[in-house]
Amino acid sequence: MTSLLDVRDLTFHYADRAGPVRAVDNVSFALASGGSALGLVGESGSGKSSLALAIMRMLPTNVARYDGEVWLDGQELLGMADGLFRQEIRWRKLALVPQGAQNGFNPVLRVGEQIIEPLVVSGAVGKREARARAQELLAYVGLPADVYLRYPHELSGGMKQRAMIAAALILEPPVVIMDEPTSALDASVQTQITNLLKRLKQDMNLAIIFITHDIALASDLCDDLAVVYAGEIVEIGSAEQVLLHPSHPYTQRLLASIPRLHSDTLPQFIPGAPPDLREPPAGCRFHPRCPLVFEPCAQKSPPAFEPADGQMARCWLIEDGLG
Ligand SMILES: Nc1ncnc2c1ncn2[C@@H]1O[C@H](COP(=O)(O)OP(=O)(O)OP(=O)(O)O)[C@@H](O)[C@H]1O
Ligand code: SF4
Ligand SMILES: [Mg+2]
Repeated sequence: MTSLLDVRDLTFHYADRAGPVRAVDNVSFALASGGSALGLVGESGSGKSSLALAIMRMLPTNVARYDGEVWLDGQELLGMADGLFRQEIRWRKLALVPQGAQNGFNPVLRVGEQIIEPLVVSGAVGKREARARAQELLAYVGLPADVYLRYPHELSGGMKQRAMIAAALILEPPVVIMDEPTSALDASVQTQITNLLKRLKQDMNLAIIFITHDIALASDLCDDLAVVYAGEIVEIGSAEQVLLHPSHPYTQRLLASIPRLHSDTLPQFIPGAPPDLREPPAGCRFHPRCPLVFEPCAQKSPPAFEPADGQMARCWLIEDGLG
């Protein structure tokens, strides 16, 4: 069965005076169909936003390397001409709510005008119909109708985030990438936004890529989880597999770092710091911080092992049947 979105060996490095920054390295994953969410979870600087930008082809000027394949509904996107990608794919089939999206609105334009812009530019409908569609979406994301006429500074952070989600949905894309959509919000607003995303997934049959540093939050929304470490996906599987039977020592440490109610064990912090992606460690990139490091880890990069059906982890322990 072909997947809705299939990312294969995606690699994206930035050029830097000190050498390439290896922000995304040989990343592969798939979203089978709509109505599901994949969580991309990892520490700050692990390359999550870079991966989102690489999929969206929203690249900065200092690209050192950009290759791999991104298949959307049977169509390969990286080899596509720029104009065609802009016209047919970006926002129409694949949308992004960027990190810090609350600051993404133009302060001098009314919110509604900014939401309908891509729909009006597409020429598919007139302004009146576009406005009706935007107002429907604003209501759906839980905002009052008058938000359409307000300026961005007249909205709270949570309202701006909802309005940004409405803006991403205006062309009804089947896949939306949400980059840390709740991280700047307080806990109660965070829950409201997560509940909204759950509804979107079901009601609109949307496929969501949910980027976060918070694995507990991702587990609330996501059907599948991918754990990102230093530019690579080190583990991927169903949320149940990753949460209940984590195979990679980094995933295990990430889970052990979550504070738990009604438990005598204290959260354990991961020793050391994530590596500098200009010079990631040889072999397994986690090896300088891994409590289980052994002979092959610093020499050879672990390939993708399959500890269980549908679960992937890059750790030499799995080859030895110990993972
Ligand atoms: N334009 C750029 N030029 C050079 N390096 C960059 C650029 N943008 C990001 N980086 C570097 O790429 C690496 C990955 O950054 P990225 O923003 O993708 O991480 P992230 O996982 O999204 O982090 P956070 O959780 O803090 O948002 C970091 O080392 C960052 O400093
Ligand atoms: S490959 Fe080695 S260093 Fe890397 S996570 Fe597995 S045991 Fe630890
Ligand atoms: Mg980021």
